[in-house]
Amino acid sequence: MLRKLMRKKTADIQLLDERIEAVKNRQIPNHVAIIMDGNGRWAKQRKMPRIAGHHEGMKTVRQITNFANAMGVKALTLYAFSTENWKRPRMEIDFLMNLPGEFLNTYLPELMEKGIKVEMIGDMDALPSHTEKAIKKAMEQTKENKGLILNFAMNYGSRVELVHAMKEMAEEVASGTLKVEEIDEGLIESKLMTAHLPEPDLLIRTSGEVRLSNFMLWQLAYAEFIFTDVLWPDYDEDCFLQAIEDFQKRNRRFGSLEGDQKR
Ligand code: FPP
Repeated sequence: MLRKLMRKKTADIQLLDERIEAVKNRQIPNHVAIIMDGNGRWAKQRKMPRIAGHHEGMKTVRQITNFANAMGVKALTLYAFSTENWKRPRMEIDFLMNLPGEFLNTYLPELMEKGIKVEMIGDMDALPSHTEKAIKKAMEQTKENKGLILNFAMNYGSRVELVHAMKEMAEEVASGTLKVEEIDEGLIESKLMTAHLPEPDLLIRTSGEVRLSNFMLWQLAYAEFIFTDVLWPDYDEDCFLQAIEDFQKRNRRFGSLEGDQKR
């Protein structure tokens, strides 16, 4: 019985390795964006407090970050706290604000070892000082790393980001340093917090919710969307691999009639 189980396990690992190799031989999405949803429901199913779900979700962040890095993904943007999440109970907010510190203090050596670079989009100024300090420290220490960019969206809202970009351009027009005719897609992109990142190719949202919730509205214009019922704490390498396999089956046309176009 045990031998049979072990044989099955070995076969599963072999199959996973084969799938990984196959996926690596095709186009890997440069930038994957994830709305990590379902922590609260995961905890509720286990009669645990919501924060236990967030804590478990943090472990998934580690797992998926390492896997995405190993797969050759260039940037991974994780929606960790939205501008709307301030409406949650104080205790939950405090817990969520502690997670970057816990994550980065625990895993910084591993991130360094794997060459992962930590970045953030969102309004850093409104974060508690300990959260800001932890993120800034990790950004500073990892800034020369050349592997995956692990980009946390913290206190991030796409509409606020767009309003900010529009105001900046309006001020430049008013001061005469920018002409209205010079405003184009490239310029708008350059004003966004993601200006230095490749455009997201793939958006994943977990937990069965099918909406964008104010996440990268401009940037996701041509991304492929994958929605899964799996709750974020249960999301694993197999789910992520499946998402990349599904992405690779999609025929990206970017508005043209030909398949697999580049934008
Ligand atoms: C949404 O699930 C999730 C969040 C608002 C927080 C996401 C945060 C993490 C996964 C941990 C982040 C880790 C680091 C290192 C920053 P929900 O609470 O809305 O779940 P529900 O819809 O089931 O209630």
